[in-house]
Amino acid sequence: MQNLITIRELSETQLRKFLSLSFQIKKNPEQFSQTLKGKNILLFFVENSTRTKLSFENAVKKLGGTHVSFTGGASSMAKGESLLDTVKTILQYGADALVMRHSSGGAIDWLADACNLPAINAGDGHHEHPTQALLDSMSLMEQWNLSPDQELPFKGKNILIVGDIYHSRVARSNIHGLTKLGAEVTLVAPKTLMPSDLSLFPKVKVIHRMDTPHGKEILANADAVMMLRLQLERQKVAFFPTTQEYRHFWGLTVERAKLLKPSAVILHPGPMNRGVEIDSEVTDSKQSLILKQVENGVWARMAAFKGVFEWNS
Ligand code: NCD
Repeated sequence: MQNLITIRELSETQLRKFLSLSFQIKKNPEQFSQTLKGKNILLFFVENSTRTKLSFENAVKKLGGTHVSFTGGASSMAKGESLLDTVKTILQYGADALVMRHSSGGAIDWLADACNLPAINAGDGHHEHPTQALLDSMSLMEQWNLSPDQELPFKGKNILIVGDIYHSRVARSNIHGLTKLGAEVTLVAPKTLMPSDLSLFPKVKVIHRMDTPHGKEILANADAVMMLRLQLERQKVAFFPTTQEYRHFWGLTVERAKLLKPSAVILHPGPMNRGVEIDSEVTDSKQSLILKQVENGVWARMAAFKGVFEWNS
């Protein structure tokens, strides 16, 4: 079984193929309206989600399939049923693939094996969120008029990933994806929110401050800035003194956004803490691609289904 669990394990060519497929689908969705005909997809979400879950549901529908949606909180898992028992129970209703979000990294690998189903990772703990990286690259390519059919399409582009990198699966998938596609990636975070072992990401630069002359220069040279949510629900200890201080040093405030080139674009995977990692005015500015990211989520997830079913056919 071949699954879409990480961007790390995709080759540059495979990654560009998924992106190419996303654009083909976006251009002509009707052509793909029977792709999942007769297939039932289990959407298994054991962690909160708005965008990812709704876009997977939409993707299945647009591809002509059906889905069974499961959310942990309202189920017998709250009564102590194990993950495996829960999934095996649901599978008795029939499923041809599994899409899963879980708070533990690696849970999807284990479950996909146990159930012997093609699987797509909708976010596992701090680990990866591959379809988010697809939709983010898609949004950037569209903005910059780049083709996924050319090698290293992001060559020469400077992309900053800013914020709670330590807890972010979005950051990890994007670091792998953007560097594979040729971008220069700089990570910006307080030392406490930067992973201590960066050996998995040998190509990235790391800075801790944006208010120093060096930090300001990096900001002024960026072609895109990807802001991350401060994931307070995963922070069991204090990683910084106050959210005001976090905003002051690591937030994309109106003043800080003025240092960006007028052509630079701003991304955020959502959900956002407006006024913490990003100011409201910046979120709603012309430079923001945030709603475009949401829209592209459906096309990228349709491509994920098509690609994974093709692998396993
Ligand atoms: C992200 C996630 O769940 O990893 N959101 C998303 O999928 N759009 C980021 C986050 O929760 O901060």
